[in-house]
Amino acid sequence: MSELRLTSEKRLRLFTGRGFPELADEVASELGVPLTPTSAYDFANGEIFVRFEESVRGCDAFVLQSHAAPVNKQIMEQLIMVDALKRASAKRITVVAPFYGYARQDKKHRGREPISARLMADLYKTAGADRLMVVDLHTSQIQGFFDGPVDHLFALPMLANYVGSKVDRSMLTIVSPDSGRVRVAERWSELLGGCPIAFIHKTRDPLIPNESVTGRVVGDVTGRTCVVIDDMIDTAGTITKAVDALFEGGAKDVIIAATHAVFSGPAVERLKESRAVEIVVTNSLPIAEDKRFDKLTVLTIAPLLGRAIREVFEDGSVTSLFDGHS
Ligand code: R5P
Repeated sequence: MSELRLTSEKRLRLFTGRGFPELADEVASELGVPLTPTSAYDFANGEIFVRFEESVRGCDAFVLQSHAAPVNKQIMEQLIMVDALKRASAKRITVVAPFYGYARQDKKHRGREPISARLMADLYKTAGADRLMVVDLHTSQIQGFFDGPVDHLFALPMLANYVGSKVDRSMLTIVSPDSGRVRVAERWSELLGGCPIAFIHKTRDPLIPNESVTGRVVGDVTGRTCVVIDDMIDTAGTITKAVDALFEGGAKDVIIAATHAVFSGPAVERLKESRAVEIVVTNSLPIAEDKRFDKLTVLTIAPLLGRAIREVFEDGSVTSLFDGHS
C-alpha cells in the first residue's frame, strides 16, 4: 500500500480591512507578497460582510487593520475577518493592529467602569486570533490582556533617530507630557546619548474625556530644545498645553513626537497654532490630506511591520529588531 505523505510548506498571507489599505499596500511591498483579494461591504443597517476570494486553508494569516475613526467599525470588521479565516481553516491568525483601539481604557479609575482594552483582547481571542502585533501600546501591561503571544513593536527608535538627526543633541531635553510616560522619555534619552529629561505635572478630570489640565514643568528646560513625546495625539489638548508650559518655562524650541496621529476634533488647528516647530508622527493611522500641514512630518511604519511579520512567519526573533541581537 502506498504511503500518504504531505510536504507541507508554510504560506504567508496578508489581509487588510478597509481602515487603511494604503498602509497594507506598503507592507505588502515590503514583504514582496500580494494582498489576498477580499470582498467587503456594509449592509444598509451598517452590518459588515467580508469574504476572501481565494482559499486560505492552512495559511499563516496576518490581518492588518488600522483602528481609525470610526473605530468600532474597523474593529468589528477585523473581528469578522478573523472569524472568516478561522472557519476557512487558516493555520495561524495574527491580528496586526498598529494602533490598538481602546488602549486608554486599561484600568478602572472608579467603580462601575469597564476595562475595554481587556475586552478587546478577549474579543480577538474569541474570534480566533492566535497572536497580536501592535505598535507602541499606551501601556505595556496591555500585552498581558491577550492570552497568547503579543508582538509589541516600537516606533520609538525610528522617531528618536529622526529627531536626533535634526538637532544639536547637547541642547536636547526629552519631555514627558505626564508622569506616566517618564519611562518612555528615559528610553528616548538612552537612544539619544543620555540627554536630560523633564516632565509635565498633568492632572485630569476623570469625568471629562479628552480634557487635561496642565500643571508645571518638572526639570530644567531653560534655553533647551525640548522634544515632547507621547504615544498618541488625539485632540492635541495634552501635547499643546505641554508646549505652552515648556515655553513658559523658558524652552528655546519645542518639537512634538508621537506615534499615533489620531487627530480628532480640534487637533489639527491646535497643532498648527502651537509654537512647536515640528510635529513628527507615524502612519500607524491614516492622515487625510486635509489634516496635513506644513510642519507635520509623517514617518512610515511599513518597513517595521514588514520586518516583524517576516520574523514571525520565519520563526525568527522580533526582539532582535530592537536590541540588535538575534
Ligand atoms: C494619555 O494618557 C495619552 O497618552 C495621551 O496623552 C492622550 O490620550 C492624548 O489625548 P489628547 O490629544 O486628546 O489630549
